[in-house]
This record gives sequence, C-alpha cells and structure tokens, in this order.
Amino acid sequence: MFMNIKHNGIFTALGLFFCAQLVLLGNGQPPFIQGVSSISGTYLKGFDNLSQEVSVPSLPVRGQIPSWLSGTFFRNGPAKFYENDSFVDNWLDGLGMIHSYSFVNGTVSYANKFIKSSFYDFVAQTSSMAYEGFMSGKHISLAAKIKYFFKNILMQGSPNSFKQNSPNANVNIAYYDKQLVALSEIPLPIIFDQTTLETKGVMDYNDTLPHKQIWECAHPHYDSKKNEYINYFITYGRHCTYCFYSIEEGTTTRKIIASIDTQEPSYAHSFSITNNYIVFCEFPFVVNPLDLLFPTRGFINNFKWKPQRGCNFYVIDRKNGQVKGIYRTDSFFSFHHVNAYEDNDTIIIDIITYPSVEMDAVKFENILKVFKEGVSTDYANNSVLSRFTINPLLSTIDVTCLSNVPVELPQINYKQCNGSNYSYMYSASNYRKNIPFVFDSIVKINVKTGKAATWYEENCYTGEPMFVACPEQRYEDDGVILTVVLDAIAGTSFLLILDAHSFNELARAYLPHAIPFGIHGFFKINEQGK
Ligand SMILES: [Fe+2]
Repeated sequence: MFMNIKHNGIFTALGLFFCAQLVLLGNGQPPFIQGVSSISGTYLKGFDNLSQEVSVPSLPVRGQIPSWLSGTFFRNGPAKFYENDSFVDNWLDGLGMIHSYSFVNGTVSYANKFIKSSFYDFVAQTSSMAYEGFMSGKHISLAAKIKYFFKNILMQGSPNSFKQNSPNANVNIAYYDKQLVALSEIPLPIIFDQTTLETKGVMDYNDTLPHKQIWECAHPHYDSKKNEYINYFITYGRHCTYCFYSIEEGTTTRKIIASIDTQEPSYAHSFSITNNYIVFCEFPFVVNPLDLLFPTRGFINNFKWKPQRGCNFYVIDRKNGQVKGIYRTDSFFSFHHVNAYEDNDTIIIDIITYPSVEMDAVKFENILKVFKEGVSTDYANNSVLSRFTINPLLSTIDVTCLSNVPVELPQINYKQCNGSNYSYMYSASNYRKNIPFVFDSIVKINVKTGKAATWYEENCYTGEPMFVACPEQRYEDDGVILTVVLDAIAGTSFLLILDAHSFNELARAYLPHAIPFGIHGFFKINEQGK
C-alpha cells in the first residue's frame, strides 16, 4: 500500500537525497518493543518480524479436516517491520509475505515466502527499512539513502528502479489470466508461483491505459456470471480521475467503463458491484494532488479528513458507464464494503463504517500506547455494520445499523452471493478486547436478523476469515471458514477450520512459527481455475 507519483528522473533521487529526515533510532529495538520487557505471551507477537521461509509437507492437526477440502488458501500480509536499527513506523508498511495452506485428502501443507519486490531488494542491499511506504515517510536513514543512491541509482542509471517497478504488494491476492498475483494499491500486480511461492515478476497490463504513477484499488471484483473483473484506479495530476474498468477473464486488458473527474480524490479502499451497477463511495478523506509531489511523507499522510463534505455514493451503470446518480450522506469512513445487490427498485449496500478516519491506529506508537494503557476513546474499534439503501426513482439514500458488533476484514460466500441478496457476513472481530486492528474472535453475522455467532478462545488473535463452499453446496453457509490464529501464549499460530453453518470448530493445524497479523487472502480450488 504505497504511492509516490514523483519517482521519475533525477529529481526523484535528488528529492530523496536532500529531503531525507534523519531517523532517531532509539535503543535499536523496534518501536513496539520499547518499554515492554517482553512481547512473549502477548498479541504484540503479531507485529514481530517473521524471518524464516519454510515448507512443511504436513502440519500436525487436531480434529478432522474435511476430505472434500481441496485447494490452496493463500494469505498475504506484512511480515518484516525492522532491520537492525531501522523500522517502518506502522503495521501496513512491513515487507509483504505470501503464506500457502494446501489441502488434500484431509491433510494440509504449509509454505511461506517473502515477495521479492524492489522494496525487498532495497532492504537486502541496504540492511535498512528506510523506504517510503503507505504511511511511513519519517524514518528515513540518510546513510542508507546515500548508499542506495550511489549503488543503485548512479551505478545503474535507473532511478525508477527505486521502488516503482515492483511494489511492496502486501495487501491482497487475485487470479488474473490464470496467474496468482499479489496486490497493493500501487501498480503493478506481482506474479508468484502457486507451488514454490517464488516471485516471478510484475504483471503488466496489455493496454494503453496508465500503468504507473496511478493509485489502484487492491480489491478487484470478479463477476463469475459475466467472467470479468471490475476494478478502478485514480490518476493524479492537473486533472484527477476515478477510472473504472473491466478485464475479461483470460486477458490482462483493461477496458474503461467510466471515468469521473475529481479535483480532490478520495481514499476509498474498496467498492461494490451488483448485476448492473458499480457502487463507489467517495469518503471525505481527500488529497490535494499537489501534496503528492513531495515524496517523503508517506502516501496517506497527504490526505485530509474534511467531514463537512459528507460522503457521495456514485452508482455507475456497468453497461454504458453512465452515472445513474450521486447520493449524499453524512460523513463516515470505511475500508471495506461487504456486499451490494439490487432489490426491486432499490440498491442495497452493506459497509463497515467508522465515524471518522482511523489510520493512525496502525502506527506502532499507538499500538504500543493501547497495549500499555488500554483502549481509549481515541483508539478503539468503533465500527458499525451499516446498510445503505438507495432508491434511484426517489433520489433517496437511507442508512440503518445491521450490527454494532465491532468487525473488520469482512468476507461472504463470494462466488454465490457477491452482488446478490445474501444472509451471512463473516469477519474478524473484537469480542473481549476492543483493540483496533487486533482481533480476538471470528464472527458470523446474519445481515437479515443481526444475529451473531462467535468463535473465541482466550489469548488467541484472529485474522480475516475465508469462506470455502462444499463442492455440492446446498445452502449459503454450506462450507468451512478458514482463518489464521495467533496463540499468544504458545508463541505460534494455527490455521483454524470452522464449520460455516454451525460455527463449531472442525480442526486446527499447528504452524511452526508465529505469523504476523495478515491482511487478505484467496482460496484457489484445485483443478477448477478459481
Ligand atoms: Fe482491504
């Protein structure tokens, strides 16, 4: 999750060189350890480096993995946060790592590998985490930059090799053109081998649309009825544009559906689709594009919260790109749309909403503050599962609360229900400890009734749940939930398998190490494409 639009030419190198801020390295420990005697036995282990790359043919299992479960669960997320005496200052900017959990005949194997991005190379070559990231921009070692400047830029004569060619794609995973790719919010996707997890290079788009110096959403949608992906990117410059596009399955060619001009682009991490529409919510968390000219702040630090603007829901016709309407609400912020669908004359959009933007909660200084002092009103998961109902005929939008259970990282039975009427959302949640971005449970919420089921275990911390349907699925929740759980006391993680219908535990597979808290993933069914 990184964006920098000024990394071209010698100006970039000079800008980085002269605008660098000396890092205050403290006592050499990563920031989340400072003042804490030990992170053993605590959830802080979920923010620690994972250095080992391993391949385990068969994990020890408690319980019974369903024999029908056949395929690989890929997970993405940051896994390296500090190197020697330098560090990124927040969870989201750690170096990306892919984890795979492959199921066959009731057994599961595991492997993990770092994404070998330009960022990874930078750290390897400089022994420093002094790169600019999504939020990191302050902890830039001048010595590291000098070293990199001479070694990589002057010697190779290619300033653009610094970061832009291969992003730290630590957010999500998708399946484009029969290839698994790791995604962040800066192009391009990174292809990795589904067996070895080795990085194979960037996946360039086969079209003439902008490939670089754009922001791109890391939550593309796949419409299995129309065999196409839908996503959007933002161009920044004198004219800024939200560009919504489709990619026909089996190709890497983007075709523009709609382009919407904006003077101050919003940061919107995800969006929704229905059978006929794209639904995009423009939050009042916006950037003056001129502020992105300076490359040392961290991309998101250039955005400003302007609640007086409210939110604008754009409903875009997928066939002709026409904006069917723009519907304004009071201000709120969100990372994740859950789902959307058309219901007679209305359009329903379910979103996890926050009263305001919550970015600072992922900074290590605030994670540590919450750890030491407990949850405060400044930093708590105050999310609400909200339902917006748009009536285009009446030009109205209404909002209701579906659930007050604090949730994040939502999933649904995507293949059956994305864009359609549905009943169940699965997500990570804060059941006991309301710590932002540290989840201690998994919930299943019936969005029609508000009823919630919970999996919780003392001293365990969960990630995003993934729904995998049975081969002969009979009902919406006929399948399993997979999620990676940190056992803080054991100091290791396990893969948890729940029956999605009853929410009872079926099995857990024990991993050889603790896995840092991840972000998103993808389940690839064996032999069936996606
Ligand atoms: Fe996300």
